[in-house]
Amino acid sequence: MKIFQNKTELSSYLDALKKMGLSIGLVPTMGALHQGHLTLVNEALEKNDKVVVSVFVNPTQFDNKEDLKKYPRTLEADVTLLKTVSKDSIVVYAPTVGDVYGDDVASQSFSFEGLEHEMEGAFRQGHFDGVGTIVKRLLENVKPDHAYFGEKDFQQLQIVKKLVALQNMPVEIVGCKIHRAKDGLAMSSRNARLTPEHRKAATFIYKILKTAKKKFGTKSAKNITEWVQEQFQLHPLLELEYFIIADTETLKPLKRKSTHKTYRAFIAVYAGDIRLIDNIAFN
Ligand code: PAF
Repeated sequence: MKIFQNKTELSSYLDALKKMGLSIGLVPTMGALHQGHLTLVNEALEKNDKVVVSVFVNPTQFDNKEDLKKYPRTLEADVTLLKTVSKDSIVVYAPTVGDVYGDDVASQSFSFEGLEHEMEGAFRQGHFDGVGTIVKRLLENVKPDHAYFGEKDFQQLQIVKKLVALQNMPVEIVGCKIHRAKDGLAMSSRNARLTPEHRKAATFIYKILKTAKKKFGTKSAKNITEWVQEQFQLHPLLELEYFIIADTETLKPLKRKSTHKTYRAFIAVYAGDIRLIDNIAFN
């Protein structure tokens, strides 16, 4: 499996493939790969001749220095896992911070028509400027035909779609369904850092989302939100940061239901010092 650390070498390798008429898929990741990532990689392999998996813990999207420091870095294990999927059709781009940012490790400032101010944007200062900066650079360096993002970070997916629309980037952004463990917990690289007790407790998050969805037919958003808040107040191990039912397109909190719109519930929860997010489509 080819592993590139340098964007110039990656570009010249990919340019040769493109000249041969081959299609390129990109799966951007921060490493610590799990089955959820492999779902994206497999989807990319179905539609593209070559798939670039980028592995880069992007410093500019972390609002919490400790979280950045503790973020797992497991390149060797990531490559081993990717090899179980395909040795020939996948290449890894694992750049250094310098290769991506040069001497200036800073985000560009973006406007995503308000999407960036909701939920994760409100709770994680500068997060989406960091995501926008790295995704734009990865798309520029790889120039893929398709790029794959998981719906677990649904707000990020909507923002990336907005980014390529606003910047007229010639790439199709493909959203992939959330991959869940058997007990319902959404797959995340952060799950590996949960204590056994918190890992068990974290299954509560998806249970609550499913019950909230059932209630959506008959109850108001306010009523459901209050019910969710109560459930977490009673929980000894989990702390709710937010639960928001929002319009799927604008990501603005739902005030009055409209039959023409679709809604999703979004949640962020602390299990000890690990922050977990999840979401579910309501209609
Ligand atoms: O979802 C992620 O892992 C990251 O936000 C991404 C898209 C790889 C950008 O660093």
